[in-house]
Formats: sequence, structure tokens, C-alpha cells
Amino acid sequence: MDMELGPARAADYDEIIAIVNDWWGRAISDSLPRLFLDHFNRTSLVARDHVGALTGFLIGMLSPSQPGRAYIHFVGVAPSARGYGLGRRLYEEFFALARAAGSSRVGAITSPVNAGSIAFHKSMGFAVTGPVVGYDGPGKDMMVFDRSL
Ligand SMILES: CC(C)(COP(=O)(O)OP(=O)(O)OC[C@H]1O[C@@H](n2cnc3c(N)ncnc32)[C@H](O)[C@@H]1OP(=O)(O)O)[C@@H](O)C(=O)NCCC(=O)NCCS
Repeated sequence: MDMELGPARAADYDEIIAIVNDWWGRAISDSLPRLFLDHFNRTSLVARDHVGALTGFLIGMLSPSQPGRAYIHFVGVAPSARGYGLGRRLYEEFFALARAAGSSRVGAITSPVNAGSIAFHKSMGFAVTGPVVGYDGPGKDMMVFDRSL
């Protein structure tokens, strides 16, 4: 598929938040407040098709507290564009960006119900731990992903 990847802009927030619940198939927008695009757009990515429509995005950051660690908060690919390697391209572009900035490890988490995300992260070479009981507080178990860069 002919998709163009580029850095995210703070202004991409409105477009992203409008589709995120549809793309995930459940209410997830509370986990993506505007601060992520306002303050982490320089390490985040968007993918667009030939007419400029949003087909994917990645919200990533270089940990300000753990030198050498990068973290991916969200990755999403439009349902119609899945299975063609766009998620892999977004991850590989972020890995390159994080390596160039001196990171040597990258992490992410996902809900234990998100079987597609768990399979995707395994395919992307992440070690998987979990469910980690109470990771995000009472009743919020999470799968934890980690890999070297
Ligand atoms: C997870 C997601 C980003 C994958 O995007 P994608 O563009 O379809 O992924 P790719 O085509 O690049 O696949 C990359 C690899 O992951 C595997 N993979 C991706 N989705 C998979 C699934 N649902 N089940 C099994 N394997 C999957 C592919 O087989 C591929 O493996 P390979 O390269 O070894 O052949 C996409 O399904 C999505 O947006 N899901 C909803 C949002 C979400 O849950 N995001 C993750 C949590 S933040």
C-alpha cells in the first residue's frame, strides 16, 4: 500500500481522537488526552494515503526519566489498511528514531483482551510478560512488552 509516513503535529490530535474508538472497536479515547500530541508529537508518527487521509499513527516518546528507554503509548492502523505491513513500518520508523536519539530498549503495554496487539508485538520481536495483575491500578491488569533496539 502506498502510504506516506511523517512526524505527527499537535494539530493532528483532533483527527486522531475522532477515529480512535472506531479503530479499536471499544472506548479507548480516555487513554489518549491531547497532551500526547501537544508534548510528544516530535517522537510520534502519522501515516497518510495518496489523498492525505489518516491511515495510521504512533504515539511514542523517549523516556525523560529512564535514559536509554523509549516507550510506545499507542499504535493504530485504519481497519481497511491492516495486514499490509503499515504497523510494522510505523514501529520500524520509531525504532530508528529512538536509536538515533540514543535509546537501546523500547517498551509498550496492552490490555490482556487485545489479542491482536499481543500477536502484533510478538511478531515485532517483543518479549511478553503478563497479565501483570494491577499494573495500572486495581482491576487493571496489563500485558507488558519489551525489546532491545
Ligand atoms: C495492531 C495493529 C496496529 C497492527 O497493524 P497492521 O498494519 O495490521 O500490522 P502489520 O500488517 O504491519 O503486521 C506486522 C506483523 O504483526 C502480525 N499481526 C498484526 N496484527 C495481527 C493480528 N491481529 N493477529 C496476528 N498477527 C498480527 C502480522 O502477521 C505481521 O507479522 P509478520 O510481519 O511477522 O508477518 C492494528 O491491528 C490495529 O490498529 N489494531 C487496533 C489498535 C490496537 O489494538 N493497537 C495496539 C495497542 S496500542
